Amino acid sequence: RVVVLDFGGQYNQLIARRIRDLGVFSELLPYTVSAAKLKEMNLKGIVFSGGPNSVYAENAPKCDPEIFELGVPILGICYGMQMIAYHFGAKVERAHRREYGKAEIEVVSDSPLFKGLDKKETVWMSHSDVVTAQPEGFRVDAKTDSASVASMSNPEANIYAVQFHPEVSHSLHGLDMIRHFLYDVCHCSGDWSMKTFIEDKVREIREQVGDQKVLCALSGGVDSSVVAALIHKAIGDQLTCMFVDHGLLRKGEAESVVETFGKNFKMNLVKVDAKDRFLSKLKGVTDPEQKRKIIGNEFIRVFEEESAKFGDHRFLGQGTLYTDIIESGTETAHTIKSHHNVGGLPEDMKMELIEPLNTLFKDEVRQVGLDLGLPEEIVWRQPFPGPGLGIRVIGEVTEEKLRIVRDSDAILREEIKKAGLDREIWQYFTALPDFRSVGVMGDVRTYAYTVGIRAVTSIDGMTADWARLPFDLLERISNRIINEVDDVNRVVYDITSKPPSTIEWE
Ligand code: XMP
Repeated sequence: RVVVLDFGGQYNQLIARRIRDLGVFSELLPYTVSAAKLKEMNLKGIVFSGGPNSVYAENAPKCDPEIFELGVPILGICYGMQMIAYHFGAKVERAHRREYGKAEIEVVSDSPLFKGLDKKETVWMSHSDVVTAQPEGFRVDAKTDSASVASMSNPEANIYAVQFHPEVSHSLHGLDMIRHFLYDVCHCSGDWSMKTFIEDKVREIREQVGDQKVLCALSGGVDSSVVAALIHKAIGDQLTCMFVDHGLLRKGEAESVVETFGKNFKMNLVKVDAKDRFLSKLKGVTDPEQKRKIIGNEFIRVFEEESAKFGDHRFLGQGTLYTDIIESGTETAHTIKSHHNVGGLPEDMKMELIEPLNTLFKDEVRQVGLDLGLPEEIVWRQPFPGPGLGIRVIGEVTEEKLRIVRDSDAILREEIKKAGLDREIWQYFTALPDFRSVGVMGDVRTYAYTVGIRAVTSIDGMTADWARLPFDLLERISNRIINEVDDVNRVVYDITSKPPSTIEWE
């Protein structure tokens, strides 16, 4: 395997992701990991990621210097390259002109990274510091107009570095460069796949669990379904799945989850009705972060209480994905919003967590689901957040507002499906802003709610674009919502991408 040391860039997991796509197992580790630990892992290669710091700043993150002595091939990207340069005594400086976005590099050596590529390559840059001259023992492999080093290496020491980001798709042949590092420099075989991932995880889960029991939070969504199937494959009847109806589910969802799982799995499944508990806890609460925390906390409490009825469960299985973790803030990345299965955990929680999907992106999880033999209707279900409609009702959550979101959402889903767009669009739902406006219906003044429609396309949920829904479809949806859902007199369509917005409204 090849590890990526995390120096704090928002897209660092993408590097690990690209490496996995190339058939080599990879995961992200904090940059503080010791050389001794890495040595034990028997690595084929190490990648230093990008990050927001300047290497010459006080307290700038630096890896264990002994890592350079391990004899394992190294690839430094952006900040990673600057750290290598700094370590070997070269000058890293603030650039006169910061480089963001598309850039052209000129390849000036026969570095294996650029094997078979053009002399001029289009890449993606995002940095404010530059390496002005390579350190001793290194050669320049590529440069840009601004005369700074775009890529350098010390082939004897097996150390390679690039200033740009080969992991993003805007670097046109970035994937080739990563492939060359893996195959030609690290001599990886490239025979890893999601099937290997499943086998490894099944083994790890068995080792971790022994003869203890595991409880799994089943929501019927892709993540929790895949995690349940994976844990079930590992330990069979030692797993109990609990489906909590927190009263924040979509229309018909509770029924369909129970039915689907009853039909497709021979699993221990327990359904808990906890609507009143959640709604009373949410009464009067308007702050989105607080709502998330309350829902997350209450979830775990329900599990603890209910599971006690079925004997001791030492572990809790959760479908946490990599994106949940990165956006909730890691040691090195900033907090965007605390996702329910991460930030909402109470500090005194008694169960130990099993989160076998926490290195994966959504589309990788779908692949795992398919490889585990889950039905397509589950694998392709659109993502639904843990806090459910609780974060689609802006402001205080009440039965009345939940009804409006639920009914309008059901109409939206029905129409999108009818139009045959349900696979193309990553996620589509309605949200209810916390205000009313004036309208006129049947010659009478109305003062009622506005429903917001959100429909986005995305690959992994990290970035998204608003879906270009046909106008006549939007018109049909709007008409139906106004006519069929009481207390609504206005429908709007959200036309922002992520960033700057997020997919959910809270
Ligand atoms: P945002 O709103 O952060 O959403 O752009 C990205 C994706 O994550 C889902 N999401 C969540 N999923 N717990 C979850 O399990 C959460 O707390 C949560 N918040 C957002 C969101 O629906 C979208 O697919």
